[in-house]
Amino acid sequence: MSVSVLFVCLGNICRSPTAEAVFRQRVIDAGLQERIRIDSAGTGDWHIGKAPDRRASAAAGRGYAMDDLRARQVSGDDFQRFDYVLAMDDNNLADLEDLRAAAGAGEGVVLARFLDVLGEDGPREVPDPYYGGDDGFDHVLNLVEKACDLWLERLRERL
Ligand code: 4NP
Repeated sequence: MSVSVLFVCLGNICRSPTAEAVFRQRVIDAGLQERIRIDSAGTGDWHIGKAPDRRASAAAGRGYAMDDLRARQVSGDDFQRFDYVLAMDDNNLADLEDLRAAAGAGEGVVLARFLDVLGEDGPREVPDPYYGGDDGFDHVLNLVEKACDLWLERLRERL
């Protein structure tokens, strides 16, 4: 069995590529790279083809590979290509729900907030760091690391 997961934010240059890079490293460390397929995308189209924001790329300092990632926009087809579609915030989730309804596909896809895995007491959203300072990116990376550990445990159960 294998499982696939798509991380989604607004621009696909800050939060979701960070989640993609962190989760890929966790999956490699667990030796599961042949069994878990990972990608990320944005609901918006402004940054298509661009590399991650250089402030997000600071995650390289914690050992995550960001350089080869390029932004793309999510599409209705993604609901036929992924088992899990994980939204960084409530706006992303609402946009993805609309997209899934318009595509008329993907009822079996788990569409959820990325931070749902932290439980009821945790934060619901990964805050958009784009217009803030470096602290915001550090906060995003801390949240992403925590949630990725828990998603890996959960996805392992599907393998
Ligand atoms: P992301 O951050 O959704 O985490 O990639 C953003 C990137 C770009 C913009 C907003 C958020 N923007 O407005 O261009």
